[in-house]
Amino acid sequence: MRPIQMVDTRTQYEHIKKEVDAAIQDVLNSAAYINGKAVQDFAASLSQYLGVKHVIPCANGTDALQIAMMALGLQPGDEVITPSFTYIATTEVVALLKLTPVFVEVDPKTFCIDPEAIRKAITSKTKAIVPVHLYGHAAPMEEILAIAKEFNLYVIEDNAQAIGCDYTFSDGTVKKTGTMGTIGATSFYPSKNLGAYGDGGAIFTNNDALAKQLKMVANHGQQKRYYHEVVGCNSRLDTIQAAILNIKLGKLDAYNAARQSVADFYNKAFAGNAKIITPFVAA
Ligand SMILES: Cc1ncc(COP(=O)(O)O)c(C=O)c1O
Repeated sequence: MRPIQMVDTRTQYEHIKKEVDAAIQDVLNSAAYINGKAVQDFAASLSQYLGVKHVIPCANGTDALQIAMMALGLQPGDEVITPSFTYIATTEVVALLKLTPVFVEVDPKTFCIDPEAIRKAITSKTKAIVPVHLYGHAAPMEEILAIAKEFNLYVIEDNAQAIGCDYTFSDGTVKKTGTMGTIGATSFYPSKNLGAYGDGGAIFTNNDALAKQLKMVANHGQQKRYYHEVVGCNSRLDTIQAAILNIKLGKLDAYNAARQSVADFYNKAFAGNAKIITPFVAA
């Protein structure tokens, strides 16, 4: 018997081996290991793919969320609304920055945050909402953005599990997840939709001033070398990972479609089994 892997990154690599090996070799030849050309190229390609003005690469998805909250100037005691069901990173960074996580329920069908529960959780201390796009479903952004506007709150989209996903507004406008809130954060962990061969992450925003702040926080709080304006961190996307991601970005839609067809296969195969509840699939 052969175990079935959740994501078969090895076979995926075999299909793109030539391109990937050559790209890694290019980075080694260039000796530009930190912030090399591939990092800027990848940021530019991803920004075009997503239709978002700024993509700031960083070291992983957890850092992306932390940098977002630091760049927004959230202060200890500020309340951040997060779903009660998500990966630990979403709330871990809230606690790390001494902000107060306020957990709200998710929709049991989609596992995404429930807008009505958000509304009930808002207090005078609430500063931000962190919707998480999970398991192939986009969080209900239209409702979330309306609540954020009404109460003047930031929206930080945790897009770690949803890169390449489209969200359609009621007027027919389509946007990529991660690009609708104040800031979007994503992860390039190897098993993610767009996975590196190591750690990686990125932050998205359409706001120029915020982009400057995000870049500064991710780079030791400096814009100019050795001039540290704020407390920041050291969070960089590795150049070799960027070179790999550049290749895989061109295949992201195909990878997402392949995941969907595998999910359809399992859903159909288990449909008649009374002991298994197959996941809800939004129309
Ligand atoms: C929803 C969610 N948010 C954040 C992260 C953190 O990403 P990383 O592992 O790159 O730090 C993950 C990764 O699994 C995730 O699934």
